[in-house]
Amino acid sequence: MSKSQEYIDQNISKFEEELFDLLRIPSVSTDSSKKPAIKEAANFLLNQFESFDLERVELFETPGNPIVYAEHCPHDDKPTVLVYGHYDVQPSDPDELWDSPAFEPVVKDGNVYARGASDDKGQSYTHVKAIESFRKTGQEIPVNVKFILEGEEEIGSPNLVPFITDHKDMLECDMVLISDTSMFGKDMPSITYGLRGLAYMEVEVVGPNRDLHSGVYGGAVENPLNVLCEMIAKLKDEDGRIQIPGFYDKVIDLTDEEREASAALPFDEEAYKKSLDIDAVHGEKGYTTHERASARPTLDVNGIWGGYTGEGAKTVLPSKANAKISMRLVPDQHPKEIAELFTEYFNSIAPDTVKVKVTDHHGGHPSVTDLSFYGLKAAAQAFEDVFEKEVLFSREGGSIPIVADFKKVLGVESILMGFGITSDAIHSPNEKFSLQDFHRGIKTSARFLEILAEA
Ligand code: BES
Ligand code: MN
Ligand code: MN
Repeated sequence: MSKSQEYIDQNISKFEEELFDLLRIPSVSTDSSKKPAIKEAANFLLNQFESFDLERVELFETPGNPIVYAEHCPHDDKPTVLVYGHYDVQPSDPDELWDSPAFEPVVKDGNVYARGASDDKGQSYTHVKAIESFRKTGQEIPVNVKFILEGEEEIGSPNLVPFITDHKDMLECDMVLISDTSMFGKDMPSITYGLRGLAYMEVEVVGPNRDLHSGVYGGAVENPLNVLCEMIAKLKDEDGRIQIPGFYDKVIDLTDEEREASAALPFDEEAYKKSLDIDAVHGEKGYTTHERASARPTLDVNGIWGGYTGEGAKTVLPSKANAKISMRLVPDQHPKEIAELFTEYFNSIAPDTVKVKVTDHHGGHPSVTDLSFYGLKAAAQAFEDVFEKEVLFSREGGSIPIVADFKKVLGVESILMGFGITSDAIHSPNEKFSLQDFHRGIKTSARFLEILAEA
């Protein structure tokens, strides 16, 4: 075993304690009252890098949350890996559904439970510790590394694309390494080679100029909540096909090869249903559950509100109705184009009894990594050395829009080396991360750098 792998085994308890300290910081990016926690999390990581005696460590302020940057490039003849991760987390609500408080990490059955445990503090911290395993054993890091850890991923990274565009030279690299995805299951090391994009819309349907008595006016004046429901029902047909004209025009269909590879993955539909307490799955006709959730576009209502939702009954005909609706996209769909198509269609199906307003929130491009990229082979080898299992390659349904921007702005592929698993409950109550996979993740990251140096 290498010195670095030995160091990781010997120091894993210390690494866990540090991770728990990071998890105690409630760095929720969408909550402006949590700005001090954002700063604290950024400084925590900055201090880590500062203790490794690296060539450059810097906190970059942005109009939003700071970006933690570190760089150590002592080699002329070795590749440069840019590690990306995010230290911001989703809000913890609904707090009452957590078995223990979201920002007080608890270890149970080999997992640590806390907001951000998997997404993305636990996963991204593996790479920080991999660097430590070289530096604290008096070794050079086997390849050149750069780190960019941001604090706005969960709000759509509004300041990250400008940052990478403005710092193209500084960020020059041969590949990006990201641990912010999931493995297929326990003991199933996986490399994600595709992510979906996102178009996120908000709609408002306005009827009469005030809330009305539903007995006095009901039946004679249009009800915006009824209309909104009818309009939403027109967004998809019974076969799960999205009805927005032009929506599928740029979708690249799965190849036969891809469909075979997807079908060969160890996906257990019965266990999937059981884990969600559902009797049946649902989705676009003609596709498997795994295809639907990773390589096909989709549309979901994320929230809907209006009218009376308080205790008891209030007979009211509401003046307004609202919904948040998002679409997951696949190559080559363009988030702006899809947002426009949605807006056009949504306006076109509105009856003349209401006024409709559509707002386009953040979006992001989908991405697919070239499977022949040499970095993927090194990553697969590292996984296999540490997990002693063959690596699975699959696409995933979540979005990391910056991956497409890394390709566009820096011209490089991203390696999505996830250490989480789908059942980690990211964004949900009781988010968790396996401590064994935290340990194996650190070793895989360090091993990856060693393998790359030999390549
Ligand atoms: N880490 C996730 C994305 C993810 C999760 C990818 C699981 C693959 C598997 C990331 O933090 C996230 O939540 N992204 C958002 C998009 C963003 C623009 C708000 C998402 O997918 O909803
Ligand atoms: Mn994430
Ligand atoms: Mn997330």
